[in-house]
Amino acid sequence: DAVEFGLEAPFSVEYHETIGSTNTRARELAVDGATDVVVLADEQTGGRGRLEREWTAPSGGVWLSIVVRPAIAPSRAPLYTLAAAVATAKAAREAGVDARIKWPNDVVIPVGDEGDYRKLTGILTEMEGETDRIEWLIVGPGTNANIDAEALPEGATSIREEAGDVDRRRFVQRFLEEFDAYRSDLESVVPDWRELALTLGQRVRVDRPAGEVVGEAVDITETGALVLEADDGRVTVAAGDCEHLRPV
Ligand code: BTN
Repeated sequence: DAVEFGLEAPFSVEYHETIGSTNTRARELAVDGATDVVVLADEQTGGRGRLEREWTAPSGGVWLSIVVRPAIAPSRAPLYTLAAAVATAKAAREAGVDARIKWPNDVVIPVGDEGDYRKLTGILTEMEGETDRIEWLIVGPGTNANIDAEALPEGATSIREEAGDVDRRRFVQRFLEEFDAYRSDLESVVPDWRELALTLGQRVRVDRPAGEVVGEAVDITETGALVLEADDGRVTVAAGDCEHLRPV
């Protein structure tokens, strides 16, 4: 629990050395009515990514999922994902890496000046509820922390590779403090997100179910959607509609 893990955060922590997926375990807890619980693991054997992708999660990572039951409309749920991205970026920066955020919710390390990057963290958000009310929300950020380059998928990096090993307890502590602070003032995450964004100002291509769109990323809205200045006018893309984004 939280005391055993030494975290002074308003969440109880369920720790597993190895587990299938922390998001799947968090879902069981959520269905049973839990809230403010964090499932944390050293290794996942069946890590899940966005869009039904697999997520590589060897020993040494910070694989975690948070269960919350906020009294907000589902349209504002993406702000929780942004909060997890900003909180992770801040914890990673404290660990000595130049962590930035690639919209919608990857934490990345820039490579060179052309907008290239390597992925440090991905976030899988899942929720249950009705149109006007969330029942539960699971936010699952996975960070490549103390992991060797050989164990990483292509295009990824780790804190170990960039800056040497991080104290994972301290990383989680810092993350939870930041995340908790945003919960009480959800909109305040938007300006902080802008400060850490790698995507804003870039010319990008976004693949979505409605087709691809190319333009300059100029801002995010108050619900975390990306505003693009495309050749034929402004386009707003919701985070859930982004299948792929890359600088062009
Ligand atoms: C993505 O970029 O596609 C999202 C990856 C999310 C991975 C994390 S690791 C902790 C949590 N448990 C999971 O099974 N997935 C998320």
